[in-house]
Amino acid sequence: MRLERWEPGPDAAGLHSAYVAARAVDNPAPPPLSTRVFTGWLAAGWGGEPREVWFVPGSGGAVDGWYRLVLPDLENTSRANLDLVVAPDARRRGLGSELLRHALARAAAHRRSDVIGVAWDSSAGETFARAAGATRELTEVIRVQDVRRSFPAASVASGYSLLSWDGPVPEEYLERVAGVNAAMANAPRTAGHEEPAWTAQRVQERFNDVFPVFGLRAHSVAARHDASGDFAALTTVYVDPDKPAWGHQGITAVIRPHRGHRLGVTVKLAMLALLRETEPGLERIETDNGETNSRMIAVNCELGYDVCGPAMGFWRLAVPQS
Ligand SMILES: CC(C)(COP(=O)(O)OP(=O)(O)OC[C@H]1O[C@@H](n2cnc3c(N)ncnc32)[C@H](O)[C@@H]1OP(=O)(O)O)[C@@H](O)C(=O)NCCC(=O)NCCS
Repeated sequence: MRLERWEPGPDAAGLHSAYVAARAVDNPAPPPLSTRVFTGWLAAGWGGEPREVWFVPGSGGAVDGWYRLVLPDLENTSRANLDLVVAPDARRRGLGSELLRHALARAAAHRRSDVIGVAWDSSAGETFARAAGATRELTEVIRVQDVRRSFPAASVASGYSLLSWDGPVPEEYLERVAGVNAAMANAPRTAGHEEPAWTAQRVQERFNDVFPVFGLRAHSVAARHDASGDFAALTTVYVDPDKPAWGHQGITAVIRPHRGHRLGVTVKLAMLALLRETEPGLERIETDNGETNSRMIAVNCELGYDVCGPAMGFWRLAVPQS
């Protein structure tokens, strides 16, 4: 079997088709990424980390299977994150196993000891992960909110004020966004996960500089603590211009000293009002939460989110060292 390396460029049509066909079988909702966003995700990941993409060419320019191995370079440098997909009409012929063997060899070459992969529950991916000897680490549940109904207006606790922006983080907010990003350390993570050390420079380099690659529209709402000027809470929603009916929830976090003022619900309600103006075609927002993240889930349920489709399992496999 011949594997080829995919290099960032405009042509990811074959890989995208295999991904779309796989999603239709494994989990049809929410919809798969558009070609443009998928190509950006292959090229840059969501966080600009180093990565390799390898694929198996099929007939007539099609792609039978591919994997993307992300190699964290700042923290978590002993692990690699793996997405591995075989097109439905090429399955059960050993292609997935071959791609996995290759990915593990590449992970070993990069001195990684573990690979973390993701599979939808009750799909072929879950059976495949078990057959490969992987162990389950974490479960994330997808929830979807229909935004076409009415929501109460945001009412912010005294001592805080709301502000918003579209697109990259404005320079004057970089430091404060870094402070809120660090609050994600409380979300459920795989064992041994090292939290990113967020700084203004990192927000610039690993978000602002990477983000244009995807072609997504980003909308952010923050609650500022008036006395200190710090951001106490932040929420971001992304919209794919090629699929404007769906929004994708990015970060929502409230930093610890400011919890207990309903700031999570408040920034999300303010976001809904903002989206009504800026994204008139928006119908739904999808979010994924660790199944044990009870506070975030309670906020989402209060805002009408319902579970959508199967959960996502995170699977760990040790990298054989030669
Ligand atoms: C999971 C996936 C990559 C498997 O690809 P594949 O080419 O069919 O895998 P293989 O033929 O190498 O299968 C290896 C073993 O996995 C298990 N397996 C895979 N698919 C299975 C299925 N549908 N039912 C039962 N067992 C299955 C079997 O044990 C199989 O060995 P066998 O055929 O000798 O019984 C493919 O179904 C896929 O792309 N799924 C969506 C993405 C995903 O979930 N990726 C996994 C990330 S961990």
